[in-house]
Amino acid sequence: MFDQAQFVISNTDYQKCPKADRYEFAFIGRSNVGKSSLINMMTGKKGLAKTSGKPGKTQLINHFLIDESWYLVDLPGYGYAKTSKKNRSAWELMIQDYLINRANLQIVFVLIDSRLDPQRIDLEFIQWLGENEIPFALVFTKADKQSINKGQQSIAKFKKVLKKTWEELPMIFLTSSETGLGKAQLTEYIQHILES
Ligand code: GTP
Ligand code: MG
Repeated sequence: MFDQAQFVISNTDYQKCPKADRYEFAFIGRSNVGKSSLINMMTGKKGLAKTSGKPGKTQLINHFLIDESWYLVDLPGYGYAKTSKKNRSAWELMIQDYLINRANLQIVFVLIDSRLDPQRIDLEFIQWLGENEIPFALVFTKADKQSINKGQQSIAKFKKVLKKTWEELPMIFLTSSETGLGKAQLTEYIQHILES
């Protein structure tokens, strides 16, 4: 599990992605939230997915093959302020098409900055996933930047908002790509789906 990871291909069009003949898991969330870093942490390969201090680094749908048996996908972030309206709708089309049509996609991990109060942009995206019946889990990132207690408080706040519209809450993870917090739990969760 996660012993071997290799980059396969980048695309703007889900139809050009690798054949959908194996399980797939995708990471999405606001620009700069730590999607690419989390992929590197999960695979133990620092430079595998390109990361940056500046938002908007990942622009394409990036497929990584794990243990020669399933895909991990790094997606571009949403909510990057400097993106033009035209780019934003291009992003929406590319990502929404991918999320709706990718038949082998098991779960979308929505990454959320654990330092922030619930953000409208994240809640709207989660709402959209719900409306389109796309299964997701929540991954709170950058836990190392504050106390664990603070991170848990953010999660509690987020849950409270979700409970207003959702009967059932999704799986939730607290992670840090710096310390490896949450790696075991996320790995176990994915492993469980792979074996089901
Ligand atoms: P885009 O590709 O632009 O959408 O961003 P991204 O979500 O892929 O974020 P990326 O992984 O590139 O990380 C953004 C910045 O946050 C980088 O400077 C990372 O080093 C930093 N970062 C990511 N995860 C963590 C974390 O768990 N802890 C800390 N301290 N920094 C992190
Ligand atoms: Mg990225």
